[in-house]
Amino acid sequence: MDKPLIVANWKMKGGKFLYLQIIKKLSQELTHDPELLAGCQVVIAPSLIYLSWLQEVLRELPIEVGSQNVSQFLPGAYTGETAAVMLSEMQVKWSLVGHSERRQWYFEEGSTIAHKVLRCLEQGITPIVCVGESTEQRTHRRQFEVIQKQVEDALSLLDQAQVAACYWAYEPVWAIGCGQIADSASIAEMSHFLSELLSGLGSSKAKILYGGSVDSKNALEVFRVPYLSGVLVGSASLVFMEWLGILRQASQYYARIP
Ligand code: 13P
Repeated sequence: MDKPLIVANWKMKGGKFLYLQIIKKLSQELTHDPELLAGCQVVIAPSLIYLSWLQEVLRELPIEVGSQNVSQFLPGAYTGETAAVMLSEMQVKWSLVGHSERRQWYFEEGSTIAHKVLRCLEQGITPIVCVGESTEQRTHRRQFEVIQKQVEDALSLLDQAQVAACYWAYEPVWAIGCGQIADSASIAEMSHFLSELLSGLGSSKAKILYGGSVDSKNALEVFRVPYLSGVLVGSASLVFMEWLGILRQASQYYARIP
């Protein structure tokens, strides 16, 4: 299997001081335990303004950077935006797309997300497409219908090879930032659903992450869920001991899987 992907989404939190502390401590851990990250692929997505700086800070470490967002447009007069080609010029290989916070606060909808996914793939950037239902949608048992629509919208402009190149992150909105992870059964049920759905759409080995209140105490439980290829971590990725715990468990758990 591909190495599992462990992504830190730093959102619009923290700053250089905190980031440097985390990277410095992680470097020290790696000096004691050079195999710490060998079993997984690690990506950190800071605010755009820190991308180049973070690449430089991480240059000795086996960690890549990713963007939290990308423009749906080709380069042009779009003040405040960042084109996929610009990310690619800066050697950024990953981008989150359609995070629920962008859907909620910036009103990103299916067609915008579809264009963002396409723009990434055109530039060799792997999109990590975030999907997830709200509390209300789950209460009304509409989660599968909602996720199916989000997936179908997101890949509406792609050919089969492009569909297979995407990563997906199941992030139920009700489990984000609240400290209460979704139960394993719900994660398993949705990752199975996503895997079947994507297989029917031409992606036989869909790469699916889970995100929503992952921390060092529950990470192992998430790694054990079938069909998952990793996790997308918010708050816990900015608390060093939490982040380290997640990375350690990922490496140890996946090292045992052929
Ligand atoms: P938390 O881990 O803080 O719940 O955030 C999850 C998330 O939104 C990652 O993209």
